[in-house]
Amino acid sequence: AKPLTAPDIQAMKGGDKICCMTAYDYPSALISDQAGVDVVLVGDSLAMVVLGMEDTLSVTMDQMVHHTLAASRGVKRALLVGDMPFMSYATVDLALKNGGRLMAEGRAKAVKLEGGLPVVPQIEALTAAGVPVMAHVGLTPQHVAKFGGFKAQGKSADAARALIEDAQAVEAAGAFAVVLEAIPVEVAALITDALTIPTIGIGAGNVTDGQVLVYHDVLGLFDRFTPKFVRRFAELGEASREAIETYCAEVRRTTFPGDKNTFYMPEGEVAQVRK
Ligand code: KIV
Ligand code: NA
Repeated sequence: AKPLTAPDIQAMKGGDKICCMTAYDYPSALISDQAGVDVVLVGDSLAMVVLGMEDTLSVTMDQMVHHTLAASRGVKRALLVGDMPFMSYATVDLALKNGGRLMAEGRAKAVKLEGGLPVVPQIEALTAAGVPVMAHVGLTPQHVAKFGGFKAQGKSADAARALIEDAQAVEAAGAFAVVLEAIPVEVAALITDALTIPTIGIGAGNVTDGQVLVYHDVLGLFDRFTPKFVRRFAELGEASREAIETYCAEVRRTTFPGDKNTFYMPEGEVAQVRK
């Protein structure tokens, strides 16, 4: 299948729902791409679900580049988006340097960054430099300290109006899509109607142009907590534990390795060794 580009994803506005998954390495990207997702996002959620950190603040640019490049080797059709980590786009210069790294070193075909009005200059500069930008408003996890926790956003009329302005600002700045995270479905519907670029929801109801979920949440591989907006579509954590328990039991019983897993010398050779 022909690889999807940022303009292809933008053109899906109002049409088929856009299916987006996070992935962080070769196997997770390969499986997601083979399953037919439209966008593979190497999210900075990497920090929590792969590196075991308590929030997303400490994952580095080098780590994001390393994982984005690994994921790129598994993707054939989906658009590969690299997430810009905390403080990597605090200024326009930083945004250009680090967005450029995700594209040139990580082989991403677009980047994602968090924020609305305050990051308009960064979105404009990246887009002008040839880096397609996916924006992200609502519950932006890099602002967890300011929010005082992972809390839904845009619940009051004032907060909703501010969110709509943020979404319109990132569209005007040149973003090709925008993630809406943990906001009321009514606000997601207003934003989706107001914009000409697709909205990708996570905890924003079923009214957005697409959905995104974290790989480890979908597959039951992340145990620390399950946000309200997550549905586990499999229990691979449990299945993995059971498989490894069985492996250990068979090793201890000496039923693994079996005949089929064992190398043997040709007929008669073993006697020669002892001579
Ligand atoms: O880092 C991430 O996984 C994300 C998505 C949930 C949108 O930003
Ligand atoms: Na992220």
